[in-house]
Parts: sequence; structure tokens; C-alpha cells
Amino acid sequence: MSETSGVLVVGATSGMGRALARRLAAEGHALILAGRDTDSLSALATDIEVRSEVKVEVRAFEALAFESHAAFFAECVEHFGGELHGLVMCHGQMPEQADAERDFALARRMIEVNYISHVSLLNLAAIHFEAREAGFIAVLTSVAGDRGRQSNYLYGSTKAALSAVLSGLRVRLAKRGVSVVDVRPGFVDTQLTWGRPGMFLVASPDAVARDVLRGVRRNRAVVYTPFFWAGIMAIIRAIPDFVFRRLSL
Ligand SMILES: NC(=O)c1ccc[n+]([C@@H]2O[C@H](COP(=O)([O-])OP(=O)(O)OC[C@H]3O[C@@H](n4cnc5c(N)ncnc54)[C@H](OP(=O)(O)O)[C@@H]3O)[C@@H](O)[C@H]2O)c1
Repeated sequence: MSETSGVLVVGATSGMGRALARRLAAEGHALILAGRDTDSLSALATDIEVRSEVKVEVRAFEALAFESHAAFFAECVEHFGGELHGLVMCHGQMPEQADAERDFALARRMIEVNYISHVSLLNLAAIHFEAREAGFIAVLTSVAGDRGRQSNYLYGSTKAALSAVLSGLRVRLAKRGVSVVDVRPGFVDTQLTWGRPGMFLVASPDAVARDVLRGVRRNRAVVYTPFFWAGIMAIIRAIPDFVFRRLSL
């Protein structure tokens, strides 16, 4: 990554988005912070600018306003004079599984935010990065996408689908020198997980942000963060179905 290149952080009000924005600024990247709560983003931008030498802009972004995505992305690219170098995508929703099972509108909204809006932005980003022949895309998926568990399979399915998109996009853009990193966090201490039962080995958003940027530097395909989730998920994937169906995971 060039020290002065511009990065767009989508979902920058999220716990991990904030941590990523701070680390990217510390590395010298000019930023656009995008999200729904522009007041909160403006406060974050001011704080980052005070602590670093970089310029930080704020843009409104609503994942469900699909028709606005093309103009939004084009304007972000334009802001950096066509030289947008990195895209980090952090927006997502995780309603309770039991609620999403009973309320299809809720399940559908999660699918649209976690999967469809990502496809919409990634399609636009792919064209930009393909032409630019440099840069990176890093997207927060989840270990929940590795295997459907009864406690979280609807959310997990949105992340599994997104991981499949990233896998194909990685091959497409590798030929143009662009890296596509699929970041799969375990449990992270953010608004998304606050007060939820059954959490263990909970990581800080900053530890995840550090792992994401290391993964980008090393052009890693998939980053499990913290690292031990790679081993945990390998075991969970390997559990035979006749055993898996007896577990209350
Ligand atoms: N926390 C975990 O344990 C964990 C584990 C694995 C993966 N993840 C994934 O990591 C990502 C970041 O999560 P987090 O834990 O940092 O969660 P968070 O703090 O709850 O942030 C969620 C973000 O998504 C944004 N968002 C939700 N709906 C949106 C919409 N319709 N349009 C635009 N933005 C929308 C929120 O914006 P507002 O501020 O406007 O609500 C917020 O910025 C998510 O994709 C999540 O699925 C989280």
C-alpha cells in the first residue's frame, strides 16, 4: 500500500470500521468514511484528523438504497482523482436467529444488507480496480459462514454467499494485481454482539483491524481473526453430520 493512497471505509460507524479507519489513517491513508450516521462519522473524522496528518471525508451510505450505489461509488472514486486504492466493507446486521426464522421481512433485510448490497458495491468496485490495476478490497464476512449452525444459520448463509463472491472476484482481479481479502472474524466486542449469550474468546475491534491490514499487506485470500479461529473452524467443518446434528451449536 502506498502511504498516501485513498481508502473508502463503508460501514465506518461499526466497531471494526472505526478501528480500521484509525489504523488506516495511522498508516497515512486519506479516507472516506461512509455510513448512515453522518454526525457520528463527522465526529470520528475530526478525531482522526486531529491525531494524524491525513484528510478524512464523510459520505452518506444506505446499503438498502441500491439505486444510489453507482453514484455514491463514482463520487468516492472522483474524490481521490480516480485513484481510490482501497475498499474496506464493514456494514452488516445480525438479528436474533429465532426472530429471523419467524419474521421474513427481518431475514430479507439482513440478506439485502449482508449480501445483496455487497454484490452491488463489489460489482462497481471490480470495474474500478480492474482498470486501475492496483489496490485492495477487504470485506468482513464471518466464521459463521464456514458451516451452518442451528443457532445462526440464516446470518451464516449471508456470509457464506459473500465469501463465494469474494473467492471468484479474487481470481478475476488477481490477474490485474488487485488483492481481495475475505476477513472472517470470530466473536468481536462490538454493538453487534453486545449482550448476546454464548460468547467466548472475544476479540477487540482493534486486534481485528490489525489482522485485516496485515492480511492486506500479505495479499492473503482469507484471514481468520484472531488466528485461532482457523483451527476452530477446521474442526467444526470436519465434524461428521451424524455428530453435528446432536450438538447444540
Ligand atoms: N462483532 C462480531 O462478533 C462479528 C463477527 C464476525 C463478523 N462480523 C461482521 O463484521 C462487520 C462489522 O460488524 P461489527 O461487529 O463491527 O458491528 P456493528 O458495530 O454493529 O456495526 C454494524 C455496521 O453496519 C451498518 N449498517 C447496518 N445496516 C446498514 C444499512 N442498511 N446501511 C448502511 N449501513 C448499515 C451500521 O450502521 P449504523 O451505525 O448506521 O447502524 C454499522 O456501521 C459486519 O459485517 C458483521 O457481520 C462481526
